[in-house]
Amino acid sequence: MEKGHLPLFLAPMAGVTNSIFRTICKEKGADILTTEFVSADGIMHRNARTRGYVEFTPLERPMGVQLFGGDPERLAEAAQQVIDWVKPDFIDINFGCPASKVVCRNGGSALLRDCPLLEKVANAVVRACAPLPVTAKIRIGWDAASINAVQTAQLLEGAGIRRIAVHGRTKAQGYSGEADWEVIASVAASVLIPVIGNGDIVDGETARKRIKAGVSGLMIGRAAMTNPWIFTEVKAALEGIPYTAPSLEMRWELVRRHCFAEVASKRDERFAMQGMRSRLMAYTRGMPAARPLRSSLSGVGSLMELDTIIASHLSEIPEEAASLEHSSNIV
Ligand SMILES: Cc1cc2nc3c(=O)[nH]c(=O)nc-3n(C[C@H](O)[C@H](O)[C@H](O)COP(=O)(O)O)c2cc1C
Repeated sequence: MEKGHLPLFLAPMAGVTNSIFRTICKEKGADILTTEFVSADGIMHRNARTRGYVEFTPLERPMGVQLFGGDPERLAEAAQQVIDWVKPDFIDINFGCPASKVVCRNGGSALLRDCPLLEKVANAVVRACAPLPVTAKIRIGWDAASINAVQTAQLLEGAGIRRIAVHGRTKAQGYSGEADWEVIASVAASVLIPVIGNGDIVDGETARKRIKAGVSGLMIGRAAMTNPWIFTEVKAALEGIPYTAPSLEMRWELVRRHCFAEVASKRDERFAMQGMRSRLMAYTRGMPAARPLRSSLSGVGSLMELDTIIASHLSEIPEEAASLEHSSNIV
């Protein structure tokens, strides 16, 4: 990373940010990557699938493993186990997941309304991991009536957490409404450790607006699923240099590469391609003539079918439309 450059983080996304996608985003300019959230219990049960979630390649460094759980000692043991297994550059604790299967086990955002437990979790993990840095990802609060991100961030800083990513929504909001960057700005002003802003960054322009919150870095999630080049675009916008959006051919080339890598890693083409269908929906959002395209991709089951769909799409789209910058609108 060049000096003075504001780091860009790929947001952890369960079922999305595996090693293949993380590597793509790194290549397009993401500076810091994290695994999707991994259950501390899964680690302690030495579950093979869980083990797969924490693995990464040297290319992905600096790389963090994100853990969730509600039991301080178990989370601390799980963190030590992960450090032993894969030697990440940092451990990240998830205090933001709104999913009920996580919240009902006192993990994720449940801890936002139990500050004493949140502090115990942070203390235990920081102690267990030292000298490896421990970071945290939070939401701004449980619901609109209990926005407590400043208090939470101060507790976490006191516990020795070294960096906090703040998703500007409450747990109750899920993914609805807009991220509240004023709260993110208050958090950034209230602690000395770096605060990373997250929520609804969709292009270079939104990123330029958002850095005014005084954050030390930006984290991007859903927009990268449609457009991994967003990291290149945001860097260009922050540095004030021109940016040229990728052509339709380049976008398809990247989609093919992603699909080929998934098939190679799963060794079952149909299974891998079925798993890619929702990703193909994200990749093709905003492409010209998207409706018929997306309908054919919704049933794709092989690389050969994918290639046929791509060839037909490219042959039907006039060159001017293909080079138009696609919209970064997200779901
Ligand atoms: C499919 C999906 C999975 C997610 N999984 C995680 C996760 O494992 N850990 C986490 O901290 N946040 C998770 N998030 C939240 C994102 O990291 C991020 O905070 C959120 O999407 C807002 O950022 P964005 O507007 O840039 O997408 C997930 C979000 C999505 C859409």
